[in-house]
Amino acid sequence: METTAQGSHDSGEFQLSAAGEQELARLMSRYPNKQAACIPALHLCQDEHGWVSPGVIQFVADRLELSTAHVQGVVTFYTLFNQHPVGKHQLWVCRTLSCALRGSDAMLAHCEKRLGVKAGETTNDGKVTLRTAECLASCGSAPMVQVDKDYFENLTIDSLDKILDRLTR
Ligand code: FES
Repeated sequence: METTAQGSHDSGEFQLSAAGEQELARLMSRYPNKQAACIPALHLCQDEHGWVSPGVIQFVADRLELSTAHVQGVVTFYTLFNQHPVGKHQLWVCRTLSCALRGSDAMLAHCEKRLGVKAGETTNDGKVTLRTAECLASCGSAPMVQVDKDYFENLTIDSLDKILDRLTR
């Protein structure tokens, strides 16, 4: 079960910050029509809000003149969009073949033990959401994890511990 953290009490109307509005205008100007900016617009809103709430879907649909069903379809297609509130940081453990052959199951088990949660859950303090991922395109440096937007590669349990120390500090 996903537990709630960032943005958990805020599923109503969504507004971007002033800087976010500037960035949205810049994004829309880069495409031949504003509907084509749907994915970057969703990323922008998620970066500010932490997840894609119903309010975010409505906001993006209104601003890009798309149906909410269309925006919802995009959100549910891409795993990088959070459909529920998540922790301050997201830790993705790649479990596809190259990583699996080099110990990703043990890495995931170690993360679950250290964080006290199962994959898909958020720590009680709201700091970390633990996720599993399909191939993150870094197979040559397996096993690896992604923390927010950064990759950590050629991991050992010791180097993973250092990442977990920093995330839970
Ligand atoms: S299998 Fe893990 S990065 Fe490709």
